[in-house]
Amino acid sequence: MKAIILAGGRGTRLKPLTNTMAKQLLPVANKPILFYVLEQIREAGLTEIGIIISPETGHWIKEAVGNGSKWKAQITYILQPEPLGLAHAVKTARDFLSDSPFLMFLGDNLIEGGIKGFVEEFNSFHPDALILLKEVPDPRLFGVAELDASGRVMHLVEKPKEPKSNLALVGIYLFTPEIHQAIAQIKPSWRGELEITDAIQKLLEMGREVRSHILKGWWLDTGKKDDLLEANRVVLDDYLKRDIKGEVDSQSQIVGRVEVRRGTKVESSIIRGPASIAEDCGIRNSFIGPFTSIGAGTIIEGSSIEHSVILESSHILKIERLADSVIGRSTEVIKQEQGFKALRLFIGDDARVEL
Ligand code: DAU
Repeated sequence: MKAIILAGGRGTRLKPLTNTMAKQLLPVANKPILFYVLEQIREAGLTEIGIIISPETGHWIKEAVGNGSKWKAQITYILQPEPLGLAHAVKTARDFLSDSPFLMFLGDNLIEGGIKGFVEEFNSFHPDALILLKEVPDPRLFGVAELDASGRVMHLVEKPKEPKSNLALVGIYLFTPEIHQAIAQIKPSWRGELEITDAIQKLLEMGREVRSHILKGWWLDTGKKDDLLEANRVVLDDYLKRDIKGEVDSQSQIVGRVEVRRGTKVESSIIRGPASIAEDCGIRNSFIGPFTSIGAGTIIEGSSIEHSVILESSHILKIERLADSVIGRSTEVIKQEQGFKALRLFIGDDARVEL
């Protein structure tokens, strides 16, 4: 079985961060989302992995993943010239996939507990598609499945205005090559995309077996700022172990599950876990509260931060209380001493400041 990861697309909902990086590389607990995806695919025993990339962000993905040796995987990059939909991405990967059954994993999705069990389920029941479903509060934002009383998939619709159930399609699918026949028969949706949801619906109409599995654990689709904060919270809460490799002085206190990576210096500060501080940071006279991840090379001085994600090489100075925030790379958030009443901002396109 082969695997494809969809890491193309535009990332419009995560601008401005995605102006300078691919959304699949945004960090959750200081690790790119895409790396969790690669780990889960390898854990399921799959080694031949195609990554769909876009002309705009593909070079960043290639730089981060390289030849895949870190995961003992064989990586093939597949360029999708335009983001014309998930089924279009499968079409683009046709040569790579050949006539193999395959796993398709959206590069911005994370699920609890990995995918090994689903690959095994697919291999033992031999359906033409195995889809994962999860109950969600607002199904209108997703592909939605309608099941009959016995749990059989009856109908699938992409982002319906009036959903018939609260079961959303999770961005992880298993297919036999039959899906290519289905894709060949569908037309672009109202948003101009070839939808994989429509292709699976077509499989049903062709009388093929579509099996579903309702996910019990968490599922995170990291499409927006609040989703990213939530993913960071859940992953820190579930996976982080206490691991102090940096230097912590005697005036500091590290409470609970906190990771302080190599090269980081913590001085006269309190860090309360779960929190992750990456390599080469400086934390001085500050409080870092639960559910915070600080990227490599960032300096925090005289500040208090919680439930936030700060990316690499930024500088936070004398900010009394920063919360629920996502801050990009090489960014300065600084409070001036001189008591200026005016706010002085130098902010890029698509930014959002809440005061
Ligand atoms: O996250 C689950 C949802 O993902 C499903 O419930 C929906 O049925 C499915 O259509 C999809 O919806 P989204 O609107 O959230 O998909 P998005 O455009 O965010 O794309 C998902 C990933 O696929 C993302 O990492 C970008 C990548 N992508 C997307 C498109 C449209 C590509 O690589 N190529 C593309 O053409």
